[in-house]
Amino acid sequence: MPRYHLTTFGCQMNAHDSERMRGLLGSLGYQEAPSRDDADLILFNTCTIRGSADERFMGNLGEARRIKRERPDVVVAVGGCWAQSQKEAVFTDFPFVDIAFGPGEVNRLGELLARERIQAVGAFTFDGRFSGDLPSLRERRHQAWVQISVGCNCVCSYCIVPAVRGRESSRPPQLILDEVRRQAEDGVVEVTLLGQNVNSYGRDLRGDDRTGFADLLSAVASVPGIQRVRYTSPHPKDIRADVIAVHRDVPEVCEHIHLPAQSGSTRVLKAMRRTYDRPRYLDLVARIRDAVPDMALTTDLIVGFPGETDEDFQDTLSLVREVGYDGAYTFVYSPRPGTEAGERMGDDVPAEVKSQRISALIDEVQNTARGRLARHVGQVQGVLVEGPSRTDPSRMSGRTRHNVTVNFAGPADEGALVGVTITGSTSTTLSGEVARVAQPAGAA
Ligand code: SAH
Ligand code: SF4
Ligand code: F3S
Repeated sequence: MPRYHLTTFGCQMNAHDSERMRGLLGSLGYQEAPSRDDADLILFNTCTIRGSADERFMGNLGEARRIKRERPDVVVAVGGCWAQSQKEAVFTDFPFVDIAFGPGEVNRLGELLARERIQAVGAFTFDGRFSGDLPSLRERRHQAWVQISVGCNCVCSYCIVPAVRGRESSRPPQLILDEVRRQAEDGVVEVTLLGQNVNSYGRDLRGDDRTGFADLLSAVASVPGIQRVRYTSPHPKDIRADVIAVHRDVPEVCEHIHLPAQSGSTRVLKAMRRTYDRPRYLDLVARIRDAVPDMALTTDLIVGFPGETDEDFQDTLSLVREVGYDGAYTFVYSPRPGTEAGERMGDDVPAEVKSQRISALIDEVQNTARGRLARHVGQVQGVLVEGPSRTDPSRMSGRTRHNVTVNFAGPADEGALVGVTITGSTSTTLSGEVARVAQPAGAA
């Protein structure tokens, strides 16, 4: 049996596309190899969001080059966003690469492999751009990602995603619901709806398919067996009152929104083409907290965007405090080829200033998040058990509805929803002990 080794870089979209690649390769008779040296097919699912993503991948690709030199029969395949961005150059710059395919072509992997003649492929052709239409090998038995749209119609001036993932296209609601029903029958209790801008879901759908994001959320939540519904990422400009109302009214929809702000400075937000300013973002936060007072909010923030002054950066620090984020991903601006900022704005914030700002921002995020997470101490939180804790295998680990990881003393089974008394907190995690076994939602 042929064996493959897959390395995944980047965001949840890529992690999910990789589940599809695993499912597809499994149905073609491939088995997973423990290391690249044991594999007949060396596969990468790549990211190109920042220069650092490219560099990390280059290191890994170097190893594939070495293996290909030793074993010329090995097939090296590169998928994902970096592959898409290098479509023209990849085979000349990296002649040992046999196959390259973009994020919209996961479904063509079987056909591309057949062309390499390493495997007699049967009738494995798939239509459609949604990897969600392919078989999948889930990472976790009780949790699933569900792709609801591909691509992005936004024009954030720093971002390469629209160039590599294309125009936004929504997957018809019936296909999404069919997939969720199948997952629920297969033991899934928590789903995360995935899209670059989930909130603009459905605007391109016509006729009977016409559905908005709020209705989709409610429909997914009503699938029997589904106890938790999450989504990522929404764009702040597209969160409407109906979505906030769903958070308030539909019990399965969790009390957490990842709400990427990018900056706290109105001036920088404008140059980023985010289409909201600081007051509008804060107004949205206020409306969310009005409806769901205990909503957990997390975010993405960039420091060192072209022209960012000290004052702009102070606005980002104060935004963190003012919103009171439960967590944040923080990034140093990286100019990307083909983007408006990368091509037309100078990368003018010096490296040492960027590095001072990112440290100060990380400190602020940690202090704020530590203060926020401490509110859970003394509470009993419902925790969906994911398995043994990574740091201490004698304890179990899972997540709250607020999407915070809890490490706790068992006993508890993977996939169970248990009540955990929270006894401690840090800036990123909670700790505790099992209080009682919670009744699944809908049970008597
Ligand atoms: N569609 C999602 C995710 C986009 S990529 C969203 O809009 O939320 C994830 C994050 O990477 C972005 O939110 C942004 O904070 C960061 N990012 C994107 N391009 C970047 C760049 N050129 N330099 C630094 N960070 C970047
Ligand atoms: Fe990139 Fe902006 Fe689209 Fe997010 S919304 S993927 S940051 S262009
Ligand atoms: Fe995701 Fe990286 Fe592509 S963040 S969309 S895998 S460029």
